[in-house]
Amino acid sequence: MTAGLFISLEGIDGVGKSTQSDLLEEFLCQQGKTVVRTLEPGGTELGQEIRHMLLHRKGDVAPRAEALLYAADRAHHVATKIRPALARGEVVITDRYLDSSVAYQGVGRALDPADVREISMFAVEGLLPDLTILLDLEASEASARRNQTGEAPDRLESEKIEFFEAVREAFLDMAESEPQRWLVVDARQTIEAMQAQIRERVSQLLGSK
Ligand code: TYD
Repeated sequence: MTAGLFISLEGIDGVGKSTQSDLLEEFLCQQGKTVVRTLEPGGTELGQEIRHMLLHRKGDVAPRAEALLYAADRAHHVATKIRPALARGEVVITDRYLDSSVAYQGVGRALDPADVREISMFAVEGLLPDLTILLDLEASEASARRNQTGEAPDRLESEKIEFFEAVREAFLDMAESEPQRWLVVDARQTIEAMQAQIRERVSQLLGSK
């Protein structure tokens, strides 16, 4: 057990994680908590360099190398930022954590999700969030929100939708198998309704700490 509270937000791209994180941070600050907002990949200076390699470098990265780069980012993030904040009794809110690796690298990239989870668990020395909030939305809806052009999806976009739908299913499976850690929030709801559900669960957690 750690002194602080560790919360991660997960979901496919375009579901509104940062909006919900902003509102949750506001709520926690009102409760007198010190909040550390962070993200993966790229929550540290070294992580920013790794993020650049992962997201902006031209050319393919071998799937195992990609999974290890995410894990390396995470190892440094946990050791130098997350654990120290939790030890000080603070609340850490991270936009994505190891479940993103299991879902994204484990799906459609020819890697076994169990292997991906194992390298992340090694990286973080077993540190799991107290709460993982999954903002759940159909991939086609998330894609429409990302683009907002109103045009029909092209072939590349359709392939992307299939990929994101598989990622979404992977998140839902994880949430189902570990309901005590996960909160699934239907992202078709209004921002306020989603936030109310999140605040209720976080309040319970604060009460039990
Ligand atoms: P993010 O910064 O959350 O982008 P966005 O704001 O568009 O959601 O994440 C960047 C991308 O990295 C996102 O497409 C998901 C991917 N990712 C992985 O594939 N594996 C991981 O372990 C993490 C943390 C992110």
